[in-house]
Amino acid sequence: MADFVLAIDQGTTSTRAIVFDGAYRNRGSGQMELRQHFPRPGWVEHDANEIWRSVAQTVRNALADAAITAREVSAIGITNQRETVVVWDRATGEPIHNAVVWQDRRTAGICERLREEGAEALVSERTGLIVDPYFSATKLAWILDHVEGARARAQRGDLAFGTVDSWLVYKLTGGRRHVTCATNASRTMLCDIERLEWDEDLLRLFDVPRAVLPQILDNIAAFGETDPSIFGASIPIRGAAGDQQAATLGQACFAPGMMKATYGTGCFALLNTGAERVSSRSRLLSTLAYRIDGRTTYALEGSIFIAGAAVQWLRDGLGLIERAEQSGQLAAEADPEERVYLVPAFTGLGAPWWDAQARGSIHGLTRNTGPAELARAALEAVCFQTRDLLDAMRADWDAEKRTILRVDGGMVASDWTMQRLADILDAPVDRPILLESTALGAAWLAGCGAGVWPGQEGFAAEWKLDRRFEPQIGQGERGRLLAGWREAVDRTLTRRP
Ligand code: G3P
Repeated sequence: MADFVLAIDQGTTSTRAIVFDGAYRNRGSGQMELRQHFPRPGWVEHDANEIWRSVAQTVRNALADAAITAREVSAIGITNQRETVVVWDRATGEPIHNAVVWQDRRTAGICERLREEGAEALVSERTGLIVDPYFSATKLAWILDHVEGARARAQRGDLAFGTVDSWLVYKLTGGRRHVTCATNASRTMLCDIERLEWDEDLLRLFDVPRAVLPQILDNIAAFGETDPSIFGASIPIRGAAGDQQAATLGQACFAPGMMKATYGTGCFALLNTGAERVSSRSRLLSTLAYRIDGRTTYALEGSIFIAGAAVQWLRDGLGLIERAEQSGQLAAEADPEERVYLVPAFTGLGAPWWDAQARGSIHGLTRNTGPAELARAALEAVCFQTRDLLDAMRADWDAEKRTILRVDGGMVASDWTMQRLADILDAPVDRPILLESTALGAAWLAGCGAGVWPGQEGFAAEWKLDRRFEPQIGQGERGRLLAGWREAVDRTLTRRP
């Protein structure tokens, strides 16, 4: 046995499956795009059955690509887009509504009302989160209130709720298991992140019946066995984690003070704070990094909703580039005298602003502004937003320490963007050789759980640097850039945090 482990990475825009061997090499993979549904402005949905079909198909494709059978796979690890809500009928296994995606803002009004009623203190004390439509609770309540008869069925125990990990385990096990992992549970706004249990007060606050909720498991656990009819043999599911937590593991950020940022559709930075749950004074999230062997490791998280999506907008919305990879090259051609800022609040602003009503804006346009300046503004926006997160983390954690950021995700392939990131952060940026951090983290959970891969230390020793980007601009220039960005954000916000 070559200690093959299969990672399923069900993300917002695509589903991937990768077969890793015992040397963490990608031996075969499959990928499928996922259709996005925008029924109204600010609403984002996925077809949960399409999510499931894409997983089943990409796993089959990955096995075929690796030229192995299901029998040769030691374990499956699942990682997923977090917070997205699926509600299904326990009897038929059919979803009762499209999945409501984490980006969806339909419950912004409900959240505003809850904030006005003073719910913020309870929510942040129990969950470490902020009252925002981003998290699952209000989306789940919305589905129960808007699908005819759903609330009564939920109360009778006929419906099941799950984040995407939970939905996939349910489907993979042929409907036998209704479970979720601790990191996904921590993003629902219904879970007490110290007791790791669903919280009665929060269930009451958000009007969610306990009967719909899954059982919460550690990130390494016996999640179930795949039904043999799906892949030809049954495979144990031994690990699961939300995608940002999986990337933290894949980047081997096991020690307090280590930080990673993943640049996908959005950007999510997580700082490991160890066994200590740090309450943020800067409107970051205090969340689970992972829970292994009954021990919880916490993290501070900064979530930016639009990162790679800004590059997609350059490509698909504006038609300025044909391929995302061209954005760095185009940005490098921008006139250094032109100062154009894009605040990509396409779906509101996340940390540390949390302004669900804000919408994107561009500042500093002149008659000279062209595609290169817009491309630079889009890429720089990602860097500036990361800087805002880093400043907030330093304020909450340890301002004295030199911070090194480990980066991953599609955008980090661009040297131009990574150099700009180091310049704007005024901190080194480390890019690893293995860029599949999210899938690798899920694979590690499963491989470790199955006893075929090493534990934390052995795995961390294999993390290898591809390139370190050191800051190259002076303080004066950085200060001017940051001042321009802050002014642009200021003009975009609809309310002060
Ligand atoms: O919190 C949302 C996050 O988990 C989504 O990640 O990579 O699918 O954009 P991604």
